[in-house]
Amino acid sequence: MRSRSPRESPLDLLLHTALDAVIVMSADGKIAEWNDYAGTMFGWRRDEALGRNMAELIIPERLRAAHAEGLRHFLDTGEEGYLRQRIELPALHRSGREFPVEVRISPIELDGGTGFVGCLRDLSARRALQQELHEAERQFRILVESITDYAIYMLDPEGRVTTWNSGAQRIKGYRADEIIGQHFSRFYTEEEQSAGAPAQMLREAAEEGKVVAEGWRIRKDGSRFAASTVLEAIHDQEGALIGFAKITRDITAQRESQELLKRAGEQLLQAGKMEAIGQLTGGVAHDFNNLLTIIIGNLAIAEREVEGLPEGPANRLRRSLASAERGAQRAAMLTQRLLAFSRRQLLDPRPLDLNKLIAAEADFLQRTLGEAIEVEAVGGGGLWRVEVDQNEFESALLNLAINARDAMPDGRKLTLETGNTFLDQNYCRANPEVLPGQYVMISVTDNGTGMTKEVIDRAFEPFFSTKSVDAGTGLGLSQVYGFIKQSGGHIKIYSEPGEGTTVKIYLPRYTGKVTADEGEALESGDVEGRTGETILIVEDDADVRTFLVEALRELNYRTLSAADAPAALRIIDQKNARIDLLLSDVVLPGMNGRELMAEARKQ
Ligand SMILES: Nc1ncnc2c1ncn2[C@@H]1O[C@H](COP(=O)(O)OP(=O)(O)OP(=O)(O)O)[C@@H](O)[C@H]1O
Ligand SMILES: [Mg+2]
Repeated sequence: MRSRSPRESPLDLLLHTALDAVIVMSADGKIAEWNDYAGTMFGWRRDEALGRNMAELIIPERLRAAHAEGLRHFLDTGEEGYLRQRIELPALHRSGREFPVEVRISPIELDGGTGFVGCLRDLSARRALQQELHEAERQFRILVESITDYAIYMLDPEGRVTTWNSGAQRIKGYRADEIIGQHFSRFYTEEEQSAGAPAQMLREAAEEGKVVAEGWRIRKDGSRFAASTVLEAIHDQEGALIGFAKITRDITAQRESQELLKRAGEQLLQAGKMEAIGQLTGGVAHDFNNLLTIIIGNLAIAEREVEGLPEGPANRLRRSLASAERGAQRAAMLTQRLLAFSRRQLLDPRPLDLNKLIAAEADFLQRTLGEAIEVEAVGGGGLWRVEVDQNEFESALLNLAINARDAMPDGRKLTLETGNTFLDQNYCRANPEVLPGQYVMISVTDNGTGMTKEVIDRAFEPFFSTKSVDAGTGLGLSQVYGFIKQSGGHIKIYSEPGEGTTVKIYLPRYTGKVTADEGEALESGDVEGRTGETILIVEDDADVRTFLVEALRELNYRTLSAADAPAALRIIDQKNARIDLLLSDVVLPGMNGRELMAEARKQ
């Protein structure tokens, strides 16, 4: 760069102050003017450049022929071609490095002939910036396109899809070429479409800038999924709406696990409630049962005493006693059902083939329920065995069948079905009172009135009934529930109003061997006995114990008595007495009756 004298003309000043290269070339291709910035850009000083052939100095060699040809063409024909237009070209630096420039060349008059003035701007920086921008954009596009967990796409201002990533394809099922140009309202359910939800979303997003929503959306195959979406308006620099960005996440699985958790919580609460009611009723029923034993026993004694009275009063007394006994027996039956509900029954579980059982049971039920109801039994193949008390199980099926009959006043169909099932972790998470494992499932299905959710929730509660007072006590399902629980099983009602009902019972698979002499009954047998046999009575209630002792003595048995299991075992042990029969209450403090039996058998 050279220093300038103040005498230079304004035009010269302008020329050398410019931040673009300005070069003047004569018709023979020689450089006639070369401003300061041309020096900066090409690496040649003005004094080095002036008079030199311009093409040789700043045009890469491979383009020089084309340059010469263009120049000649203009001089010959006057056709301006690229003159006066902005063009981009590679230029040559003194160092041999090529770099991009934008150029505009105008013809001028020069020393009475034709010349050219060119204005050149270095594009290197801009190109680099563009390249960077392009690369960033490309990477961003790759990022967005490769995201598969989120549907990320754009809409034009009217709501038509303009871009589509692989997450969108995965979640919604459309390929990009199928969906681009289509309106996004097709992702909405029909109800929402007719309610105008998609347009509403766009309006809100345009006004608020952003809308967050959750709802059901439709895949290409028509299936639904739970979606969480964000719709965001995009504006250009002037603030005009140019479209929307939409991000959608499939939250179906998340919703399902929340739902599962909620159900499990409800089930746990339900199980806890049943447990509490069971404890309560169990205690009451047990005491009540003892009182009934005393009442019924004393009624029997009173009946015998009547024998000695004169005919008239004896008959009157007998009638009263019989009526009292009927009442007491009914009360005893009721307490029995309550004991069943509170899982305090004396059960006699044995290995059982439920297919055989339901075949026989279907015949029995058909006869009991009458012609109006068709009873069908469908036994599953290769059914595993279960270990369960047969009598109680039959009575459970009868209870369910009677409920089904009550729900089908015009008669229809009752189906008993069996099958092997595996209750997995998932099932047990939703039904926390069950352990995972192999079960035999027995279902009882009717196509009657069905139940509401409220009725299902309370159906197992004792005394819950929707029937009239004389039609139902509300103990049927309670009894079944308690029995199945006591047998290590699980019971569940599936029903909807108008859709009929299925009650499913699950009993654990029995894996032991089946032996012929399975469970010979120690506690059963005829009590009306040969004289002199000894009976050991184990009963914690003193009144009941006294009554039993007296009653049995009256029947000429020798009796021994104990208030609990340890006392009974001591008697068996110490006296070394021949005890012919052990008569024990099931529920005893500490060791229960069943365990006492097992212990006594060992000795
Ligand atoms: N198969 C069924 N279809 C429709 N509702 C049923 C069915 N089974 C039970 N329910 C409903 O559950 C309630 C409780 O049944 P549950 O067997 O415990 O008592 P109940 O039948 O009313 O009286 P109980 O069995 O003591 O005679 C019934 O009152 C009825 O509302
Ligand atoms: Mg019932």
